[in-house]
Amino acid sequence: YPQAFIYDLDGVITDTAEFHFFAWKKLAEELGIFFDRQFNEQLKGISRMDSLDRILNLDPSIPAFSLEEKEKLATRKNEYYLELIEAVDPSHILPGIEALLIENKKANLKVALGSASKNAPAILDKLGLTGYFDYIVDASKVKRGKPDPETFTTAADALGIAYWDCIGIEDAAAGIEALNKAKMFSVGVGDAAHLPHADYLVGNTSELVFEKIIEQYQKKS
Ligand code: BG6
Ligand code: MG
Ligand code: MG
Repeated sequence: YPQAFIYDLDGVITDTAEFHFFAWKKLAEELGIFFDRQFNEQLKGISRMDSLDRILNLDPSIPAFSLEEKEKLATRKNEYYLELIEAVDPSHILPGIEALLIENKKANLKVALGSASKNAPAILDKLGLTGYFDYIVDASKVKRGKPDPETFTTAADALGIAYWDCIGIEDAAAGIEALNKAKMFSVGVGDAAHLPHADYLVGNTSELVFEKIIEQYQKKS
């Protein structure tokens, strides 16, 4: 039986993935760079600076920016993002998520957050969900972001739980890769084209049903 659930934040608990997309798009267009949702899939789960690098790499004619200039651009993106998330409140919790958290607690499981975002603790507070979490890993707690497993192993280590006793939920390919590398059971939210390596895949968060996830976990182990 599993001992812990570790949740990604953006795109799993709440749809801030959309706000990240809009904020990056705005910054990119100011630089004359255009990208679509298909490309945006590659930005999911990736740190702020890595995302900026990927966007700048889209246009070979863009001059090389200094680290200082890149930090300014990343800060500008975050300002756009902060404007967009100002209105986030408990009505922005994605369907099925709070019910799943309640089931986790009823079953006496540990619950952690494994997010690449520096804004994660603030968003969890805005959603009113902080009380469910025994431990929170955000970008400030890890050296190597997803797809490195460190985000998730840091959470499991803090909880004192073996990696194979953890179930992780992710909407990003980089996050599924991180979970699989950590030897955790990976639950993907999205479509098979983007998340081919998830141990168990659901189309959206309303399909995240506690008993079904446990059943799939037990089949695998
Ligand atoms: C991840 C998102 O959770 O956090 C990425 O999936 C985002 O899209 C990353 O770039 C970093 O977020 P922040 O809030 O630190 O810029
Ligand atoms: Mg995500
Ligand atoms: Mg995340």
